[in-house]
This record gives sequence, C-alpha cells and structure tokens, in this order.
Amino acid sequence: MKTARHFLRLQDLDGRELEALLHRAVELKRRTRAGEAYTPLAGRTLAMIFEKSSTRTRVSFETGMAQLGGHALFLSPRDTQLGRGESIEDTARVISRMVDLVMIRTFAHENLERFSAASRVPVINGLSDGHHPCQLLADLLTAQELWGGLEGKTVAFVGDGANNMARSWMEAAQILGFSLRIGAPEEFLPGPQAMTENGSNTRVFTAAREAVQGSHMVVTDVWTSMGQEDEQEDRLARFRPFQVNGPLMAEAGSGAVFMHCLPAHRGEEVTADVMDGPRSLVWEEAENRLHAQKALMEFLSGFGPVADMEGV
Ligand code: CP
Ligand code: NVA
Repeated sequence: MKTARHFLRLQDLDGRELEALLHRAVELKRRTRAGEAYTPLAGRTLAMIFEKSSTRTRVSFETGMAQLGGHALFLSPRDTQLGRGESIEDTARVISRMVDLVMIRTFAHENLERFSAASRVPVINGLSDGHHPCQLLADLLTAQELWGGLEGKTVAFVGDGANNMARSWMEAAQILGFSLRIGAPEEFLPGPQAMTENGSNTRVFTAAREAVQGSHMVVTDVWTSMGQEDEQEDRLARFRPFQVNGPLMAEAGSGAVFMHCLPAHRGEEVTADVMDGPRSLVWEEAENRLHAQKALMEFLSGFGPVADMEGV
C-alpha cells in the first residue's frame, strides 16, 4: 500500500511545492469567482474532526470539498467513540478505510502524528497547539496576490511568539526565504527548539516597536489561544505593550499591511482602527482559506498540476 502524504506542518511541503500550490490556489480562486465548475473530488469524502471550536476552518473545508464535488463529514469527539476512549490509532484505522481525506483540529500536535501514522489516507492539520499550517497557506496566498510573493519582504509577527501561528510563520520564512521579526514578551518568544529547527530566517525582539521596524506586513494573533483560557487574565496584562495599534503601524514601513488569522479581539491584540482600516487585509485573508485549502485537497488527492509535478 502506498503511504499517504500528510500535511501536519508547513514544512511538509518543500519550497517548490508550496509555491506551485499557491499559484494553483490563485487559479482555483479565479475559476470559483468566474462560476466555473471543477469537481475532481466527486464521490470522495473528507472527515473533519474538531476537538476545538472553529468558524473559518470548518466553513472553508466543508465548502471547499462541496465545490470540488466531494462531501465533508463533521465529527465532534462529543458524539464519537473518540470522546469515550477509543484510541486515536483505532479511530484512524477505521475512518481511513471509509473516507478519502481527514482534517483534524486538536490540542497536542502529537495526536495528529499518531493519527496520521495509522491512517491510510492523507491527514491535514486544521490547527494544533503547535502549528496552524492551513492558515499560513491562506496568509501566503494573500501576500502572493498583493506582491507576487514574499521574496525580499519582511514580516513582523507581534504577540504570542510561542504559539501555533508564530511557529508556522517561522516555517514559512525558512521555506520561502523571507525575513520574519517576532516581537513578544521575553517568556513568549519562540523556545530554543523552535529557533534551532525553524529559526534560520527569524529574529526576535522584546519590544514591539523594534520588531516592526522596516516591515512590509504586520501580523498578530490572539493573546490567549484555545486551551489557554485559565491564563487569560495574566496574558492580558503581559501582552498589553504588544497591541497592534495606529502608532505601532506608523513605526512599520510606510504602506505596511496588516493581517490577523481571526477571530480578533478589538481593543486587545489589535485596535479597531487598524483591523477595520485601509491597510487591513483580514477579510481577503479569511476568504483565502477556502481557495488555498481547495488547492491543498486537490494536491493531496493526486489531482491537478501540483500533484502531477511530483507524480503522486
Ligand atoms: N483562523 C482560524 O483558524 O479560524 P477558526 O478558528 O474560526 O477556524
Ligand atoms: N492561536 C490561535 C489561533 C486561532 C485560529 C488559537 O490557537 O486559538
């Protein structure tokens, strides 16, 4: 049996594949907007296991699968045997005999590794505590549409430098070769392991103003990620100096744009004037989840030009 190709972190794609996938996403977006039907996944099913809440990930995967001609199945641990103690491996063995793709949103990244090791079909990370690679596909697609890519650009990530989004941005910078500047309180900078594995194009700063100097794009994320709710009060106080607001955007390069994976908390990590202002790309970024993930599902299913490239 051929081993399935999984997408658990951004570095599961090499630079050539990632760039081809982004180009393909641009083309699929054009087709969708033109109303052209394209249904290579007719008769196929995507199982979506959500252990955490979601708006964008669920809607984009379910809609994307429908647009590609397939079907998506929403599974919550509350209603499956997974929530009653059936092992991850047994669940993976069973589900992957019935469906063609699996997307999982979970807590420990290790859960995804265990599931994918026992799965016959491709597994996609729809967010874990460690990584959010699908969001990066959408963010990179947004940059691609704006500038044709991030080559020669500098991105500043301001906020929780130790969270899933920061880590996926580090991987993106390493794969594509752009500069990433992370601004975070000392205790929320990327850890030594993250810096060793993925920090080759990342510089870290403990002052937000320094982090955004010379950047073309300022990115932030929630200060309290899902699963960290107990730390919320403490985090609110510690991250206060890392709010992305008008004065901070003024410190970035003139014309610097703003992105946020959403959901956003106006008045916390970002002010309303930045979030809803002319430099904000957040709504295009959110829509791009759909187009980028369609390109990903097409590729992992062995269809389209990116799959042809590697002879899947
Ligand atoms: N950005 C993102 O993953 O959003 P959801 O949590 O709504 O899926
Ligand atoms: N870091 C956030 C991202 C939400 C899309 C979280 O994990 O909750």
